[in-house]
Amino acid sequence: MLVVIIPDREKASSQAAKIVADQIRRKPDSVLGLPTGNTPLGMYSELIRMHREEGVDLSRVTTFNLDEYFGLKREHPQSFFRYTHENFLDHVNIKPENAHIPDGASKDFSKTCADYEAAIKNTGGIDLQILGIGRTGHIGFNEPTSSLASRTRLKTLSDETINDNSKISGDIPTVAITIGIGTILEARNILLLAFGEAKAEAVAKAIEGPISSSCSASALQMHPHVTFILDESAAAKLSHRGYYDRVVEQTLKLSPERLGHSND
Ligand code: F6R
Repeated sequence: MLVVIIPDREKASSQAAKIVADQIRRKPDSVLGLPTGNTPLGMYSELIRMHREEGVDLSRVTTFNLDEYFGLKREHPQSFFRYTHENFLDHVNIKPENAHIPDGASKDFSKTCADYEAAIKNTGGIDLQILGIGRTGHIGFNEPTSSLASRTRLKTLSDETINDNSKISGDIPTVAITIGIGTILEARNILLLAFGEAKAEAVAKAIEGPISSSCSASALQMHPHVTFILDESAAAKLSHRGYYDRVVEQTLKLSPERLGHSND
């Protein structure tokens, strides 16, 4: 596990974009797992800039969104389909047929979930799964007590999540289709972004707490290639800050590709 603490949120977002762009340069047909929410907005803007100004080519990239509100049509203003198009997909050259987002309006949700899992497998699996984290410690919408082996399914949102997300988007559905923790753990690499003091407790539990379904993100401790990118406030409750900084220094020397520096 690599814990990268970057004081400034804008620089942290650029660092995340650099890791994603580096993944695409090393493997142009990469499969990316995409989050929505407030956290990745800076990373998406920077990736769009890198596409326009630095020639980062996403024409062979495939994407799978983590989740979608259940019951919302694609064109609904609060859908993650709209969010992902407006904030990322409409500004880069990912082919529409390669951008996958669960169909929240599906009548046969069991089939939709099973098909989504099958589609991920058919592409050869996710190379880089990007995640945010909720105050409840959720990744995707895997709320506390989600099975650590869960797959894509419907999940009831917690009160905290409904509260947090309604503040941004107004009334939202209380159920979502989300990929599972088991699905996330099968990604080859995982990049989790967290900014702001509201995330500090969930981040500390995820990184230093026991592995428990009470904090879904703690399951990431079982994954061999996870990078956390945090700002100071999100890192505030970590106990081993000095150690994490030393690990980052060593990684820059020994495995610079983990931090998006393979071409430097
Ligand atoms: C979004 C998702 C969620 C968010 C989390 C943090 O697709 O899966 O896990 O990443 O709720 O949301 P923000 O970034 O808005 O704080």
